Amino acid sequence: LNLTVSSSGGNTSSTLQYGLLFEDIYHSGDGGLYGEMIRNRAFQGSSVDGVVSLDRTTDFWTEVGGVTLSVDTETTPLSSSLPAQLRMEVPEDTTTAVGFYNDGFWGFDVDASQRYIASMYVYGNYTGDVTCYFYSTTSDTILGSTTISLDQTESDGWVQTYSPTFYPTTTASNANNTFYFVFEDGAQLAGESLYFNVLSVFKQTYNNRANGLRTDMAEAVAALGTKYIRLPGGNNMEGLYAPYYWKWNETLGSLTERPGRPGTWGDYNTDGFGLIEMMLMADDMGLEVILGVWAGLYLDGTVVAEADLQPYVDSVMDELEFLLGDSSTTYGAQREALGYGAFTINYIEIGNEDYLNGGTTSYDDYRFTAFYDAIHATYPDISLISTINPSPVTTDGSPVDLHLYGDADYFVTLFNAFDQASRSYPVFVNEYAATNTGSNSASQIGAQTLSMACAEAVFLLGCERNSDVVVGSAYGALIKNYNEAPDTVAVIKQTASEVLYSMSFYVQQLFAANMGSSTLPVTATDGELAPVYWSATTNTSHTILKLVNYDGETGADSAVSVTLEGSSADTATLISFSAPEADSINNLAALGGETSSVTTTALQGEAGVFTVEFSSAYEILIL
Ligand code: AHR
Repeated sequence: LNLTVSSSGGNTSSTLQYGLLFEDIYHSGDGGLYGEMIRNRAFQGSSVDGVVSLDRTTDFWTEVGGVTLSVDTETTPLSSSLPAQLRMEVPEDTTTAVGFYNDGFWGFDVDASQRYIASMYVYGNYTGDVTCYFYSTTSDTILGSTTISLDQTESDGWVQTYSPTFYPTTTASNANNTFYFVFEDGAQLAGESLYFNVLSVFKQTYNNRANGLRTDMAEAVAALGTKYIRLPGGNNMEGLYAPYYWKWNETLGSLTERPGRPGTWGDYNTDGFGLIEMMLMADDMGLEVILGVWAGLYLDGTVVAEADLQPYVDSVMDELEFLLGDSSTTYGAQREALGYGAFTINYIEIGNEDYLNGGTTSYDDYRFTAFYDAIHATYPDISLISTINPSPVTTDGSPVDLHLYGDADYFVTLFNAFDQASRSYPVFVNEYAATNTGSNSASQIGAQTLSMACAEAVFLLGCERNSDVVVGSAYGALIKNYNEAPDTVAVIKQTASEVLYSMSFYVQQLFAANMGSSTLPVTATDGELAPVYWSATTNTSHTILKLVNYDGETGADSAVSVTLEGSSADTATLISFSAPEADSINNLAALGGETSSVTTTALQGEAGVFTVEFSSAYEILIL
């Protein structure tokens, strides 16, 4: 195969290739990116066999010293948003220390080089120390501790107290650790009850932000090097049933004012990782935001009738005023009072997959336009994305968002999918993933294999070649907790102490890092497309050619001669991504670790002509 890469003549590429979708799915927010380490810190709701429940429980809490733990709704609550608290009843004959411990999100990461802080709200009578410590269930030892000193009576009401920050004395060998709150003077509490809410432990966060992100997770997301992020979802934004769609104004300010909500993906969301936290994440990572707004469809098929839709439209307008308005506006002033300047929003996606469960007709008839008209009238420069193709409003070139899921071979067929697309209708592919069965259900079998990741790469070549019309693409889903969803696809999976970079992580990272500002035409002779696929771009200073081998030859039989028109270069940089087998996967360190590798070598050529060979039947080469 001979490929000749022209020196000019292509299309201008989108500046938004590539992107991210963030939503809390299988603990990508709580127990994932969000830095809170205590699970069920505020008794907001629960999960039974992976099905979210409104029942408030003491799940993930265990008594110490013979006390009884229960969820209490009788005592004066901490706030109307958090109407339930943990009650600790201490037996009359108690003479020793009492308390409780938490299991965390499948354990805790304990790292002696990192700073931690604990805190809690308490109601009741106690003067003395509460020892807070990490405990290893592997080594049966305390790994580090701090003290919360209380001096309060019932008449003080609810009091929040922090520990001093502390460094553990020992780094844990694994995540099998718990976190204890122990009242040393148990005798003082004999026959009494104390009440607790928003029990919390944070490790130092990404960029040291208060109520911020888990550092290793945030660094993994930032390392993808993408250009935009769509938030807060996804199906999670829509809600399983009324009235639990994602409400921006219930995710703001003090944690005591955030009721949380039953998430779509099996557990209650605390909403500690709220609108401001998500916007700050985007800012910190230099990402353009595509703001998802709810468009009146719940996942059970309930649709808000046209006559009842206006309050939801008004709420979106309030959200935009909150994000964009100055201090002379009601909601802009609210944001400023919280300590934040205005954010930037250039893209809004109206709904998510509004064709689901009978949503199409109402979206086409009135839902999309109700939101579109209101937003467009006040913010004419914001691009408004439809979740149904074609968009109900086609007069101003508004984009649509296509979600593409299917098996690996299907993704390879998408290489040409956008070649003939109308240039008048920009497209985002704000969710795509090659999957084995289903898309995101917990019963889906199989994490990404090398061949699946290479199929995604072939698809991305197609997006890149057509990125005058394909504005951006983002993998669905970005993050899933390994303990909960080990066998489904995601860009990143995490345990409490480890981040797992899937095969697709590397594909996106490589594609994002090697993207030009315009395409270059490529002419093939002595061979044709498949099993090798290609795309070329230029960023004016140099040419980037991507080649994907999808079930192809290796060695001399796979040789591709590349001529860079108008170039006299004798050397080039060659990046290769591959793994030993087509079905290799990246795994946790204890289960084999990463099998994929990225290598960078110098390639010798002559006067702009280079020869590359594949070393694997499934491989990505970037020249
Ligand atoms: O993985 C992303 C999920 O899958 C999204 O919530 C939904 O929009 C899609 O179907």
